[in-house]
Amino acid sequence: MKQIKNICCIGAGYVGGPTMAIIAQKCPHINVTVVDINEKRIAAWNDEDVENIPIYEPGLSDIVKEARGRNLFFSTEVDEAIDKAEMIFISVNTPTKTYGMGKGMAADLKYIELCARQIAKVAKTDKIVVEKSTLPVRTAQALKDILENTGNGVNFQILSNPEFLAEGTAVEDLLSPDRVLIGGDIDTQKGKEAVNALVDVYSNWVSRDHILTTNVWSSELSKLTANAFLAQRVSSINAMSELCEKTGADVNEVAKAVGMDTRIGSKFLQSSVGFGGSCFQKDILNLVYIAKSFGLNEVADYWEQVIILNDHQKKRFAANIVKTLYNTVSGKKIAILGWAFKKDTNDTRESAAIYVSDYLLNEQAEIVVYDPKVTAEQIYADLDYLGTRTEAENRFLVKAVDSAEEACRDAHAIAVLTEWDEFNELNWEEIYRNMLKPAFLFDGRRLLNRKAIERIGFDFYAIGK
Ligand code: NAD
Ligand code: UGA
Repeated sequence: MKQIKNICCIGAGYVGGPTMAIIAQKCPHINVTVVDINEKRIAAWNDEDVENIPIYEPGLSDIVKEARGRNLFFSTEVDEAIDKAEMIFISVNTPTKTYGMGKGMAADLKYIELCARQIAKVAKTDKIVVEKSTLPVRTAQALKDILENTGNGVNFQILSNPEFLAEGTAVEDLLSPDRVLIGGDIDTQKGKEAVNALVDVYSNWVSRDHILTTNVWSSELSKLTANAFLAQRVSSINAMSELCEKTGADVNEVAKAVGMDTRIGSKFLQSSVGFGGSCFQKDILNLVYIAKSFGLNEVADYWEQVIILNDHQKKRFAANIVKTLYNTVSGKKIAILGWAFKKDTNDTRESAAIYVSDYLLNEQAEIVVYDPKVTAEQIYADLDYLGTRTEAENRFLVKAVDSAEEACRDAHAIAVLTEWDEFNELNWEEIYRNMLKPAFLFDGRRLLNRKAIERIGFDFYAIGK
C-alpha cells in the first residue's frame, strides 16, 4: 500500500473538525480536506477570525490557525475531495431514528448510506473508507455491499476507527488518547495493508502500544460498549445520590470512598442532574435495539435501565424545585446557569438543562438563561425542537442574557445545570442581595461550596446530599 498523501473527511462536526485538525497538525505531509453539505458550517470553519470556528473546544482554534490553508482545508466540494483522497473518513451524524422501524431506538443510518453511495459514484481509484462515526455493529457489511455493488470496479477497504474523544477535552484526548482502535479485515492481505496505512497515520504522534487493531465487528461493538459502560457509571452514582438524600450520606464522600478502590477507579463518579450529550443516550438506545433484534431481552432491559434512571434524575431535580418553592413556580422567575451539556463546550445536544427547563415551563415558570458559550438562538432551537409549546410561547417565557448576575436579578430561584468554572467565581453575596427572598439555589452539579453559600443566606439544595 502506498503512503497516504490525501485524506478526505465527510462531516465537519464535533468529531470531524477536531480530529482532522489534529491529523493535519501532526502529519504535515498529508493534505486533509474536511467536507460538509452544511455551507454555513464550512464558512464558519473558514472564517478569517479563527475564534469564530463553529465548535468551541479549548485549544482548538490555535491548531486550526496553524494548519488551515497549509494542509488543512474545509470545503463543500465533496466529490472533488473524495476523488483526490486515498483515505476517506466518514464522520457524519448517526442520530436516533425519529420515524418508521426502530423509531426512538435504532441509529438512523441514512447519512452514512448517502456517503457510501457518493463515494461509490465518484471513486475511480482504490480507496480506504474509514468509519469514524459511531455505528451499530455490522454496519461495515452494509457499507461493503453498497460500495461493491454500485462502485466503478475499484477496490474498497473498510476500516472501523471509532472516536473516543469527549467534548470539552477533545484536543487533549486526541493528542494523547488512551487508545486508538482500528478494526479491519485482518485476514486478507489488502485488509492488513489498509489497517497498516491507518496505523501509520496515527503513529505520527501516538505510540504503537496505544494503537489497538482488531476485527471490524469487535471495533464497532467496542465503541458502543465503552459509551454504555461510561454512562452506566453516571447512572449508578446518580442512583446513589437519591439514596444519599434520604439517608444523610453524601454522594461525593461515597464516590470518593468507592473510587479509591483501584478495581473501581475514581473517574466518572461525579453525580449530576443527569448525563447529556449527543452520544450516550443514542448509543445505548442503539445497543438496546440491537440486543432486542437478536431476541436478547434481558440484555436489552439491563442497558435500558441506564436511560430510565437518567430520565428520572432530570425529572426529580426539576420536581424538587417546584416542591421546594411551595409547590408552585407559576409566574416565578427561575435563573438557569449553564445550558451546555457539560463545561468547556458550546454543544447543547440532550443537555439536562433543556429537560429541566421544559418541566419548569410546563409548571408556568419564567426562565432566564445564562451560558458563557451558548447563543440565545440555540437555546430557543433546543426548546422548539421538543415541540411542547409554540415558538412564540418559548420566546415569551424564556429569556437568554449575557451574564449570570443579570439572569439572577429578581429571581425566586437559581438552578446551576452546567459546571462552568466561572460559576464558582461569581459574587454570590451580590447575587443574593438582588434576588427575591427566600433565595433558593439548586446545585445540579455539586459545584458550589455549601458552607459559603449557606452563610450568605441562600436556601441551598445540592444533588446527593
Ligand atoms: P455533528 O452533527 O456535529 O456533525 C456531523 C456533520 O456531518 C454535520 O455537519 C452534517 O452536516 C454532516 N453531514 C451529514 N451528512 C452528510 C453528507 N452526506 N455529506 C457531507 N456532510 C454530511 O456530529 P458529531 O458530533 O461530529 O458526530 C459524528 C459521529 O461521531 C456520530 O456518529 C457520533 O456518534 C460520533 N461521535 C461523536 C462524538 C462527540 O463527542 N460528539 C464523540 C465520538 C463519536
Ligand atoms: C462521551 C465519552 O466520554 C467519549 O469517550 C465518547 O467519545 C463520546 O461520549 C461520544 O461517543 O460522543 P461526551 O459525551 O462528549 O463524551 O462527554 P462526557 O465527558 O462523557 O460527558 C457526558 C455527560 O455525562 C455530560 O453531561 C457530563 O456532565 C456527564 N457526566 C460525566 C456526569 O454527570 N458525571 C460524570 O462523572 C461524568
